[in-house]
Amino acid sequence: MQEKLQQLSIQAKTELNQIADAVALNNFKVKYLGKQGLLTEILRGMRDLPAEQRPVVGALVNQVRQEIEEQIASKQEQFDKIQLEKELAKNYIDITEPAKGHEKGALHPLSQVFELLIDSCVNMGFKVVEGPEVELDYYNFEALNIPKNHPSRDMQDTFFITDNILLRSQTSSVQARTMQVMKPPFKIISPGRVYRNDSDATHSPVFHQMEGLVVDENISMADLKAMLVELMRKTFGEQTQIRFRPSFFPFTEPSVEVDVTCPTCRGSGCRLCKGTGYMELLGAGIVNPKVLEECGIDSKKYRGFAFGFGADRVAMVKNSISDIRSMFRNDIRFLKQMK
Ligand code: PHE
Repeated sequence: MQEKLQQLSIQAKTELNQIADAVALNNFKVKYLGKQGLLTEILRGMRDLPAEQRPVVGALVNQVRQEIEEQIASKQEQFDKIQLEKELAKNYIDITEPAKGHEKGALHPLSQVFELLIDSCVNMGFKVVEGPEVELDYYNFEALNIPKNHPSRDMQDTFFITDNILLRSQTSSVQARTMQVMKPPFKIISPGRVYRNDSDATHSPVFHQMEGLVVDENISMADLKAMLVELMRKTFGEQTQIRFRPSFFPFTEPSVEVDVTCPTCRGSGCRLCKGTGYMELLGAGIVNPKVLEECGIDSKKYRGFAFGFGADRVAMVKNSISDIRSMFRNDIRFLKQMK
């Protein structure tokens, strides 16, 4: 039996030397060490040995087994190494190759404009307040002195969700919400998205407004004008002039439309301002006392001024953008020009 074992050991070594790949190695393992393997078979034969010989032969079997296992492991290691080298060669990465570089855009013109407007207003003591885009008819219209069926509702093509719920058509909705919860005096601005059913080169169904509202004692048109001059100069440059034209909004009385000198020609008239020297930019006025009363503010004691304008329009005027839709296409070539 010992002889048999020694023979087996020699045979295994010779065979192992000729093995050249992992599959053959596995077959070899099964052939010698598997359940039906050669060594296992010898082990089974030990039953027939006299008891005193069993430990000796047993030790020998274990030794041969260990030898074979060690040899298999070292062969396996060799094969693994070869395999790894093969893969590394195949997936070679040249770390010295120059990098492709990232496409860099810029802050969206709208974000730039909002940053500028908000910064300027916060410096003048305004607080930023936000309101919901899905709004009640009440805040968008009724509380602002625009009852159901009022003809001025036609000024804004509103997206209705139900009879009483809509996509807000103006940030003025935040005026009413604010007046109901804040005690005067206060100064707030409300930047945000608004919606109207309108679409061409200068109108988008989704656009952006910034509303301003100041409520205090002794507020007059002079306060409104001074504040807007300051804001427009911070936005378009120190030489900027503004002018008021009489207008109408149900929630302000008197109401004005505010024009700003064209930042391109500085008032002398050019293609962009159609020769007028001015750009129409804001709606504004003294808050209608009816609105103050509706929102629970004593209109004998307090007065307010409000203004609202399109942030998209400011971005377009500032950057000479002629089509509002280009602001929402996310074309990186367009954004790159806005640096
Ligand atoms: N909400 C008005 C609009 O969208 C603008 C405005 C705001 C006018 C505040 C007066 C006061 O046209």
